[in-house]
Amino acid sequence: MKRKLVIVGASYAGLQIAASAREAGYDGDILLIGDEPDAPYQRPPLSKGFLTGGFGQERLPLRSQAYYDEMQIQWMPSTRAVRIDRERKELELHGGARIAYDHLALTTGARVRGLDCEGASHNAVHYLRDLRDAKRLVEHAQTARRAVVVGGGYIGLEAAASLRQKGLSVTVVESEPRVLARVASPSISAFMQRLHASRGVSFALGRKVVALHDMAGEVAVELDDGARLLCDLVVVGIGVVPNTELAAGCGLEVAGGIIVDAYARTSDASIVAAGDCAAFVPYWAPAGSAACRIESVQNANDMARTAAASVVGRVEPYRAVPWFWSDQYDQKLQMAGVSTGFSDFAVRGSVEEGKFSLFYFRDDTLVAVDSINRPQDHMLARKLLASGARLGIKEFNDPALDLKVFANRDVSVARDASS
Ligand code: APR
Repeated sequence: MKRKLVIVGASYAGLQIAASAREAGYDGDILLIGDEPDAPYQRPPLSKGFLTGGFGQERLPLRSQAYYDEMQIQWMPSTRAVRIDRERKELELHGGARIAYDHLALTTGARVRGLDCEGASHNAVHYLRDLRDAKRLVEHAQTARRAVVVGGGYIGLEAAASLRQKGLSVTVVESEPRVLARVASPSISAFMQRLHASRGVSFALGRKVVALHDMAGEVAVELDDGARLLCDLVVVGIGVVPNTELAAGCGLEVAGGIIVDAYARTSDASIVAAGDCAAFVPYWAPAGSAACRIESVQNANDMARTAAASVVGRVEPYRAVPWFWSDQYDQKLQMAGVSTGFSDFAVRGSVEEGKFSLFYFRDDTLVAVDSINRPQDHMLARKLLASGARLGIKEFNDPALDLKVFANRDVSVARDASS
């Protein structure tokens, strides 16, 4: 009988596991199950071009139907898996049907964290995670004039930029004292806040929303200092929560995410997990560090490749350099590595001109690079980080240093060392 790989969650990670398993010669059935009605699609444009109108729905699908046919990947839309029977190796669907598997992949992603205050279910409140959310927001933004964005993370800031570009007035409410506090250094936060302020966005930092009051069609957003912001549209981007219920329900190890090892394997040898829902100890973390999740397209795709390798019996540890990007207005922010806990940084380029990169160091080791409108630095940074760059902060502070030479040299040194 043919083997069967069943994948729960049809977005980046799920599709990539299917594709990579097939490319690696998996000759069994591959079934991709998702609870959304659409085939896997790009999510980053939802808060950017799709919202401003420059990126149409027809461009969203990650693959065409011809691709699924050619790769013999069967996908089931609008289908919810509700239980895993590990003993019988069966997946139970909503409605009771059961599907047998040899290998199971959990790529269940994450869902938005809901605003938890009086009035939070008001009709004017929007979230931005899937296509349905984005369509509803696009429609409402056509007639709205004043928006309050709750959360100054990437979703909040991208939504703020898009709504400003559509002519709405925008106020961002962020509970931390700076925007992007979870993911960016103070310098990048300051740059991004200045950028938004220069385009007319107002900020209420260090403030929480305590209630939303209906004002005959409009909404008064009440903050914890008593201020009331009157608006007709609220966008909430206050983070996500991993979908771990299926895993926890069948006794897999879950701690802030579905726990996987360096090979994307869960505590059950037949089950892998990847993407936003999976937690692991990254290769760059000091020994003994707690497992963490990385929410990005890069992580979903690269971890999925590792998971697929495990399914076909190859063992390839997950060692990709994390990277991320965000487009806001006409500005491009790109990040490589993880700057948390950095002790020093070097600046290259011109902050005044809005074209610069920050190179972060921990104990004189390069750990991350954030680039604003310097895409070439970003690409070189990924190379340098992958090769374990041997340059210290002194060298980076030298504007005459040609990064290209060093990025390529370090890659060849790393290759020599491993051969
Ligand atoms: N009121 C105001 N701000 C809040 C509140 C609150 N009640 N709760 C949280 N915040 C702030 C956080 O301090 C943080 O700055 O909301 C922000 C949320 O940012 P993220 O955690 O980065 O989440 P979000 O922007 O929603 O992005 C969700 O989508 O694009 C991806 O990479 C992104 O994976 C992330 C996901």
